[in-house]
Amino acid sequence: MDHLIAPSLLSADFSNLKADIEMVNNSDADWFHLDVMDGMFVPNISFGMPIISVVKKYATKPLDVHLMILQPERYIRNFKNAGADILTIHYEASTHLHRSIAEIKSNDMKAGVVLNPHTPINVLVDIIADLDVVLLMSVNPGFGGQKFIENTYTKISKLKNLIEKNDCNTLIEVDGGVTIDNAPKLVEAGADVLVAGNTVFGSSNPIHTIQKLKNF
Ligand code: DX5
Ligand code: ZN
Repeated sequence: MDHLIAPSLLSADFSNLKADIEMVNNSDADWFHLDVMDGMFVPNISFGMPIISVVKKYATKPLDVHLMILQPERYIRNFKNAGADILTIHYEASTHLHRSIAEIKSNDMKAGVVLNPHTPINVLVDIIADLDVVLLMSVNPGFGGQKFIENTYTKISKLKNLIEKNDCNTLIEVDGGVTIDNAPKLVEAGADVLVAGNTVFGSSNPIHTIQKLKNF
């Protein structure tokens, strides 16, 4: 499978969001990545359902919603109603992960678990077969534009082994500090989906940058 690109709207221009949504629609990108932060699980607050609904109205590609919130199970239905196609929740924020993943799927969304940089892959041993996506944080969540953590390559290969051992087709997604330089190495290590915020929206030609992240 060709790898997928998911631009993170956290770094978009919110005063002209529609233009950035249309740019992604017209680019080689595959998904929209939307970062929801609650100021509790992470030390930052971003946006919630009203913004996601606006993106849904204009987007022609799936919405990948990354919840950085405590007890994400409280809002599964709300995010479905706002337009999420893929919903990922943090291992560190979910006590009853198995139940929450089942609930996301029963609401007709793809379900994923996110791991913080310090959380080992082996916590997924008993749930990997139920997951459509595992999102590996390659920075500490909360902010765009941070430096990529190199240990992520080791985690990708451990996760790939776990997926192969269980004979499932879970996608490996990497989020944080993805650049044009490290994108080919991440895909070679086994990443299926690359999230990119600052690299895309901080560039002078985002369409061209997405093209470079997608084609190598
Ligand atoms: C960080 C978010 C990321 C962020 C990535 O907490 O989960 O999705 O937008 O931004 P960059 O690509 O700038 O590191
Ligand atoms: Zn994210």
